[in-house]
Amino acid sequence: MSTQNRRHFLGTAAAALAGASLFPGRAAGRPILGRTPADLPALLGGIPVHKGAWPKWPEWRQAWEPSILNVLRSGRWYRGEPGDQIPRFEEAYAKLLGAKRCLATASGTTALYVAMHVLDVDAGDEVIVSPFTFIASYNAILMLKALPVLADTDPATLTIDPASIESRITDRTRAIMPVHISGMPCDMDPIMAVAARHRLRVVEDACQAWLAEYKGRKCGTIGDLGCFSFQNSKHLPSGEGGAITGNSDDLIDRAGSFHDCGRPYGGFKGKPNFTRGGNFRIQHFQAAMLLQQLDKLVTDTARRREHASRLTSALQDIPGIRTVRLPQNSTAVWHLYPFRYDAEKFEGLSRATFIKAMRAEGIPCSTGYQEQYFDGLLDETIASRGFKRLFSERRLKEYRDSFNELKGNREVCATTVAIGQNMLLAERAEIDQIAAAVQKIQANAGALKKAES
Ligand SMILES: Cc1ncc(COP(=O)(O)O)c(C=O)c1O
Repeated sequence: MSTQNRRHFLGTAAAALAGASLFPGRAAGRPILGRTPADLPALLGGIPVHKGAWPKWPEWRQAWEPSILNVLRSGRWYRGEPGDQIPRFEEAYAKLLGAKRCLATASGTTALYVAMHVLDVDAGDEVIVSPFTFIASYNAILMLKALPVLADTDPATLTIDPASIESRITDRTRAIMPVHISGMPCDMDPIMAVAARHRLRVVEDACQAWLAEYKGRKCGTIGDLGCFSFQNSKHLPSGEGGAITGNSDDLIDRAGSFHDCGRPYGGFKGKPNFTRGGNFRIQHFQAAMLLQQLDKLVTDTARRREHASRLTSALQDIPGIRTVRLPQNSTAVWHLYPFRYDAEKFEGLSRATFIKAMRAEGIPCSTGYQEQYFDGLLDETIASRGFKRLFSERRLKEYRDSFNELKGNREVCATTVAIGQNMLLAERAEIDQIAAAVQKIQANAGALKKAES
């Protein structure tokens, strides 16, 4: 909010309060009707529920530094040198996930790109994907000159609605990309069943789902291949970085070759230039950082989970707040903790003002992903020379029109509010303050609404 708008807001707020007689005794310093400045929304001049900073992210420990220095002093910095950090990380990460193999890559985007290439997604193919995701999921498909076909989002789970997949399959469909967004597992059984019925490959975008579990299996180990991101904000960060996990030696060896200029890799050793490729390699420095943080990932994940369930218990009884439903026997890891906001149950208070009011209470939060298929990226795709060559005009028109059918996703984009993963690492009392702030805004929604208009 600009200073001017904020002043206008506060001015209107004060008038609204005067009208509502919330603080008739305030001038005399005596709260009336049991109301104190602590009950008043901070946006209307009250005392914020939370003071001070939330845990900072990422976290680095001095004790981890020798491993980085060792790489630095060895001069073996890139994957082609016989350093041991990358293979050690790949082995440890695969073991942690219960996958047979892991290939570390330069990023989550390149992991998705390489994984789809080895699953034979090619120019002119179609891949069905969750629309409610970071834009990289769409981009990785577009990089292969394939069409990201958007299934709908289930408003109850915020993940792909398995029932919406089948009607989107065409004779060009090659793969499905479920996205375990915010570390919330997609309902994989029906997705795998549709894939099996139509002989489609499944690449899990688990870029936000390190250690998330679905029916006893880790996300990223259920489909043909799984992809992870280790970018700076992630629960296992190394600035940039990614990984592909899977149980097929052939697929991981092909991925190893393709990600390293097509050089022979694993089972393909001794077969020079047998495949295309690029440079999508991670460095030993990054692998050293990742290796050091694996134990922390496990303990942080347990803490986030405990705090997320505490928060869910507190939020679910507040009118107008809908917490997320997870598939049965699954556990999320909460890269973001999202919930849905029903303005009607908050006296018509807009989501934007709800978020401002939360921020004023010292609780940073934001909207989730927006309807990014209307942002221009896919229009640019449709208008491009390459895609016009690869797809008929009729298909591209039908494709563009299909964005209007994403009713579940539209609802999700319009109503989601999310807090960051770092906040779930705070103290238990601070988790309770998140719910207390929502409750305070709910109790004062009428006054906030009046101030809004
Ligand atoms: C859901 C999802 N997919 C893909 C990616 C891409 O990962 P990266 O940024 O490492 O390329 C991200 C990263 O934020 C992501 O959140």
